[in-house]
Amino acid sequence: MPPAANVSTPTLSPPAPRMKAYPLDEFGPPEVMQQREVERPAPGPGEVLVRVVATSVNPVDYKLRSGEADFGLEAPAVLGYDVSGIVEQTGEGVERFGEGDAVFYTPEIDAQGSYAEYHVAEAAIVARKPTGLSHEEAAALPLAGCTAWQALFDRAILQAGQTVLVHGTGGVGLLAVQLAHAAGAEVVAVSSPTLTRQTAERGASRVIDYQSEDPAEVMQQAGVRAEVVLDTVGGDTLFESAGVAAPGADLVTIVESAEVPAGPLMPLNASVHFTMMQRRGATMRSLARFAERGLLRPAVADVLPLADVAEAHRRLESGGVPGKLVLRV
Ligand SMILES: NC(=O)c1ccc[n+]([C@@H]2O[C@H](COP(=O)([O-])OP(=O)(O)OC[C@H]3O[C@@H](n4cnc5c(N)ncnc54)[C@H](OP(=O)(O)O)[C@@H]3O)[C@@H](O)[C@H]2O)c1
Repeated sequence: MPPAANVSTPTLSPPAPRMKAYPLDEFGPPEVMQQREVERPAPGPGEVLVRVVATSVNPVDYKLRSGEADFGLEAPAVLGYDVSGIVEQTGEGVERFGEGDAVFYTPEIDAQGSYAEYHVAEAAIVARKPTGLSHEEAAALPLAGCTAWQALFDRAILQAGQTVLVHGTGGVGLLAVQLAHAAGAEVVAVSSPTLTRQTAERGASRVIDYQSEDPAEVMQQAGVRAEVVLDTVGGDTLFESAGVAAPGADLVTIVESAEVPAGPLMPLNASVHFTMMQRRGATMRSLARFAERGLLRPAVADVLPLADVAEAHRRLESGGVPGKLVLRV
């Protein structure tokens, strides 16, 4: 019998796991996001793989999708910048989290967002989901909450007893109202009529309807000046708030604004801050503590299946939504 040939059997590596996601191949209308099976990401050192239970939509989503905003994002890409979910796997060196932990965070703007069954994030930007909030509620907090927190407490250094004027009470503004109220500030909020009830319930002592009232006029008539102004609306808002700013005021905007006049602000020694939210685990943990103490409660207008992501974009973009639109994955 001839000797057996020395044939080695090739070892086949198992196929990479797949997941459902809603990528876009080009920027454009909401329909560009279509469900597809894509490769499931794997966590690298210092990262966690999270099974996304819920995500939510933010204005940056439709601004990126339509091409209005850039942030260096290139197609194909999956959008989605909020996550509430469960840790599925941890990468090398991750000690803070383990498999099965409920977590929440706001993903970086890169090619793989949270309109997907799984998401990989650096553990440093993740925090434990607040106990007492459902995944749907927790998914309404990360991006908007980090923005509100950092604007009020990192940029403006809001103090108890100060008056804060919040322009806009949507995703960011309604959380800012609650954070400022919890910090002991007097809150005046300029709100859409669709959100006046939620705004008053969450701590604004005065709610001005932006569609029927002039905020500067209302403030001047009431003799109220603001030590902190938070602008989530843009355009002329900051410019028009200059007249109701208190001496030493901090005016913070999270949106592009018309030129702010030095004239009325210089004699007040006021400061103007243009701010961009930073993804930080520390801010997420602060939000979680406030939520667990019952001081931070997002208004969830609707929970839709992830398959309705295009519809959620359309609704948010047309305005008049009474709270956050959450997507259940
Ligand atoms: N710099 C950053 O890091 C950062 C982070 C997060 C968000 N942002 C930006 O900040 C903006 C707000 O974000 P968001 O998530 O809060 O948006 P949102 O959920 O769409 O809320 C915007 C709110 O402002 C209201 N509004 C519109 N015009 C107003 C006016 N003249 N006065 C008062 N309220 C007015 C809207 O009411 P209607 O529904 O009646 O229109 C809505 O309730 C967006 O442009 C977003 O891209 C920036």
